[in-house]
Amino acid sequence: MSLRLGDIAPNFKAQTTAGEIDFYEYLGDGWGILFSHPADYTPVCTTELGRTAALHEAFRSRNTKVLAVSVDPLDKHAGWVNDINETQHVTVDFPIIADPERVVSTLYDMIHPNASENFTIRSLFIIGPDKKVKLIITYPASTGRNFIEVLRVLDSLQLTANYSVATPADWKHGEDVIVVPAVSTEDALQKFPKGLNIIKPYLRYTPQPDL
Ligand code: BEZ
Repeated sequence: MSLRLGDIAPNFKAQTTAGEIDFYEYLGDGWGILFSHPADYTPVCTTELGRTAALHEAFRSRNTKVLAVSVDPLDKHAGWVNDINETQHVTVDFPIIADPERVVSTLYDMIHPNASENFTIRSLFIIGPDKKVKLIITYPASTGRNFIEVLRVLDSLQLTANYSVATPADWKHGEDVIVVPAVSTEDALQKFPKGLNIIKPYLRYTPQPDL
């Protein structure tokens, strides 16, 4: 049975490029991103892990720890990290899980046999401080993920975790947000002192409340 939004993200222990990790201990009280790639020494994966390393400060400032995984062994990861650092001009500073026994890949349903029997697909999970799954995305091997979109979703999730708001299509940090239907307009006027833009009774915008 595959994981769904709102499920508890299963804990595990795994060998990584930073030693053995207990997933929950690694995440601590913060947010987490667990993402799989098909294989080491492949071009798209090299750019993806490089991009993730380049966004180190963006993840750190969002109190988010990153953890990568593939079915390749640890010594292969170690050699490949040198290539990523060299070609993408970064320092990979997040752990990469070696999962040749497919323990993590199976727990998180990262192998889709009709796509590939042998490799993890491009799966990505955002996990909240409550250890619940907040986002699942699945990309094919041939398409590198958009990590700016991952940051955008993190921003939205972190905002909506703290306020009674949702974020509209293509929303970006700093833009107006939507008051959720569960909040009456009367209550919204109290909750959001920056004001409301009421387009329809069910479509109400307010400036991003935490700015
Ligand atoms: C890549 O990372 O470039 C890749 C990996 C597996 C299949 C196709 C592309």
